[in-house]
Amino acid sequence: MRIAAISDLHVRSDGSDKALVDGIRARVEELSPDVFIIAGDISDRSQMLSQTLAKLSIPECENLYVAGNHDLWLEEDNRFSSLEKYSHVIGETCRANGFIHLPDNPYIVDDLAFVGSIGWYDYSLRSHDLRIPDSAYEQKEFRGEVWFDAFSIEWDFSDCEATELFNRRLEYDLSNLPGEIERVVYVSHHIPFRELSFYKGRLPWDFFSAFMGAESTGKILLKDTRVRLSISGHSHVRKKAQIGPITALTVPLGYGRPSDEGITDLVRAAVAQIDINGDTVEVPGFVEGDICADLPYGNHP
Ligand SMILES: [Fe+2]
Ligand SMILES: [Fe+2]
Repeated sequence: MRIAAISDLHVRSDGSDKALVDGIRARVEELSPDVFIIAGDISDRSQMLSQTLAKLSIPECENLYVAGNHDLWLEEDNRFSSLEKYSHVIGETCRANGFIHLPDNPYIVDDLAFVGSIGWYDYSLRSHDLRIPDSAYEQKEFRGEVWFDAFSIEWDFSDCEATELFNRRLEYDLSNLPGEIERVVYVSHHIPFRELSFYKGRLPWDFFSAFMGAESTGKILLKDTRVRLSISGHSHVRKKAQIGPITALTVPLGYGRPSDEGITDLVRAAVAQIDINGDTVEVPGFVEGDICADLPYGNHP
């Protein structure tokens, strides 16, 4: 079983990422996976999400999507709340464009199940070195630096309640898998393990680390001995960690765009190849770090 995985494309809405999206598709086709996974944050705009999924859907394999926080952001027309987007709009967009929205239903191949969730954050991944009051995390603002979900995510629960809600759903999905399932791949946007987090020892970066994910989600995964692999996005620093029996990865592209000649190399680094054979998980050529460091994003020529 071969998986190709990427996240955090953050496709720009002016159409200037066409070559990049074409490059990602070409690389996935070259890897010829059984399952292609995108772990969220394609765009703040539903129209771009729809168009990008249509371009990246590959008929020869199963295409799985998990929404990211940016995909749930309120749009100018305010037609859908974040909860409506997560509950049904993203699923419909996926279906219309050749993808399965994995949080809607696990995807099963023989004895292997893919279980998906956006995951959320409860500030448990905050840097232990900082002394910042809980109220700053709850308001998502510290010394003028704001985590933008504060303005753009709309639902009626707190972050800790959201984390709890998605955790309960994950437990439900795991407990309802058919009896023949022996191995589970977890796919999320937010990260479930501190080992996937990256701290720089400076602000505002380490303040924002509190919004990366939740340790409680990782504990649920570790309790289920079938879980072999965890694939996430959201952190724009790529990492790989072995946590007990679980190989855990973050697979973001991130913000930053090369010149057209640089696209092939960037895409090769961005699309992770993951091979699962029995209980063995291999990630040949996995590239760690921020692969977009020093590349411009907003003012692309
Ligand atoms: Fe992102
Ligand atoms: Fe994100």
